[in-house]
This record gives sequence, C-alpha cells and structure tokens, in this order.
Amino acid sequence: MSVVSRATAIAHPNIALAKYWGKRAYGHNLPAVPSLSVTLAGMATTTEVAFDASLERDELHLGGAALPEGAEATRRVAGLLDRVRAASGRRERARVVSRNDFPTAAGLASSASAFAALALAASAAAGLPTAPAQVSDLARKTSVSAARSAFGGFVELRAGRPGDEALAATPLAPEDHWPLAVVIAVTREGPKDVGSSDGMRHTAATSPYFPAWVDAAPALFEEVRAAVLARDFAALGAAAEASALRMHASSIAAAPALLYWTGATVEVLAAVRRLRGEGTPAFFTIDAGPHVKVFTTPEAQGAVERALLAVPGVLRTISAVPGGGARLAPAGAIGTPSASGGAADGSAGA
Ligand code: DP6
Repeated sequence: MSVVSRATAIAHPNIALAKYWGKRAYGHNLPAVPSLSVTLAGMATTTEVAFDASLERDELHLGGAALPEGAEATRRVAGLLDRVRAASGRRERARVVSRNDFPTAAGLASSASAFAALALAASAAAGLPTAPAQVSDLARKTSVSAARSAFGGFVELRAGRPGDEALAATPLAPEDHWPLAVVIAVTREGPKDVGSSDGMRHTAATSPYFPAWVDAAPALFEEVRAAVLARDFAALGAAAEASALRMHASSIAAAPALLYWTGATVEVLAAVRRLRGEGTPAFFTIDAGPHVKVFTTPEAQGAVERALLAVPGVLRTISAVPGGGARLAPAGAIGTPSASGGAADGSAGA
C-alpha cells in the first residue's frame, strides 16, 4: 500500500470590478494591467489533491468524470502540480478530484475558484506553506484571476513589472466592508466561448486597441479602488462599467473580431441603464462570455432580479454577496474515500 498525502480546499469565484485582460510580454504569466475584484460567497469549488506514489501520471476528475491526459485542463493542473513538486522536493504524481456547486457549463467563471482551491490543496498536501500570499502567487502562475480568489472580500492585484517572478494579490478590504449584492443574468446555457487565455492572447496580438486598453486600465483601476474604499456606489459603477466596456472594445477590435456578447447581453445593459434612470442602484460588468453581472445593494436585489428576469433572452439569475477566501476543508469533504491507499477512484460525490 502506497503512502498517500492528501488535503482538501474550498475556494470561491471572484468578479473583477477593474478587469485584468492581457499579459506582460516577459513571461511568468504576469498581468499587463492591475485588477480589483470581489470574492463571492455561496458558489464554491471543492478540490482534493492526493499525492500517491502508485500513480504513473497526474489525474484530474472534474464533477465525477475523469478528464483525458491531453485535455487542456489536465495540462494546466499538471503544470501547477509540477511547481509544487519542484518547491517541495516531492516526486509523486497526484490525483485531483474537484467539483463545483454551481453550473460550469454556462461558462461562468470557474477557473479562478478552481486554481485557487487547487493551489491551496496541493500546497497543503505537499507540506508547503499555505499562507494566502503564497497560495495566491502559485495560483496566479497558472491563471491570473485565481490569484485574487486566495483572499476574501475586495482584492487587488497589481500589474507585472520587469524582473517579477513572484506576484500575489493583496486584500484591500474585508467582505463586510461594503454589503453589495451581485445578480448574474445568465443569457446562454450552450457551448463555451473562446476562453479568457486565448481571447486575451488574440486581442493582444491583433487588436490595434489593445495598447490603448493597457494605457487606460491603470487610471480606471485607481478610480475603482478609491470608490471601493469610499463606498461610493455611483463612482464605482462608472469606473467598473468603463473598465468592462474598454476591455471588450479591445477584443471587438481584434482581427477577426472577438465579440463575447449576444443580443441578450446588450438588452441587459439597456435594462441596467433603465433601472438606474428610475433610481435603482445598479451597474454592470461582463467577462469573457455573454452573461452580465449586475452589482446592486441588498435592498434593491429583489427588484434587480425581477427586472433582469423580464429581459428577453435572460434564462435565469444567480445572486451572490461578497465572501471569504480559500480555506482548507476537513478530509473527505469532497466525498471520496478518506482512507489512504489505492481506494480512491475519483468517484466524486457531486
Ligand atoms: C475577463 O484569469 O481566466 O475574467 O490568466 O489566462 O488564466 P488566465 O486568464 P483568466 O482571465 C480572466 C479575465 C476576466 C477578467 C478578470 O477576471 O479580471
């Protein structure tokens, strides 16, 4: 029977108010622009990592299904595990069992919670330090937005600088700093969009507006940051909408154009403007997909949900509030057998 070192972690998705879009040209997966996000409560990724000397290769089981060796997700997971092996001196391959308690098929951001949970669980299982800054840096090397999910509440991540190799997000304000609510208008259940990594690479390579985005982003980031600290809803809305729209404008100008929006996306933007015109606090942001995330206050959340559900093309809404950072979970939280040995077969109790 081989010795198995395992650990389980839970992490939550985050939504960027000041967007990250594009990487530095000098490697190490460094962001070209600073970003600021809110980590959400409610939706969670739970991931168990088990280093096991009897394994011949790293295995990834997502939502109960084993992913093929050559799959993009398996490759990215193995890349993170290679870093953990290099830092810890461990040589064993690992079995990674992960599940989300929110729908991933809709293309709602899941890589941030996924790689934050993986970075924490793998670090703990390998005996590496598990302080949030170290977990954030490790997660960032695989997926930049995941760096922010290491922390809860309002989180910032500066742009990469020449010579950087380590770069971690930092907490700006705790989750109870400002009781915002977010209502996600789901506008499509269908196939995935062009992923963020590919989308920003294509934008950086072909869009004449990409340099303008990189120039504009730091000032928008500062406006978002100041508005969060001052709890100024109107100022935050103006800066966050500008950040999302300028990010998307850079992609729309790529060749060929990268347009994440559908008609329903635009209808929701119009509905948010209508709500605001009627005095309801609301602003939108959009990531690499057709869904719209609408920020509002807890008092107005019900009215915003009703208004969004009435927009043609909105299939359903998902509501959330700010939440905590990545944390370790008790053994067996994922639902696999907790006994060590070769028993775990990845049959995640999703
Ligand atoms: C639009 O973090 O998924 O959600 O670093 O290549 O993994 P990689 O990209 P990813 O990009 C997220 C982009 C975004 C905006 C944001 O979250 O800041």
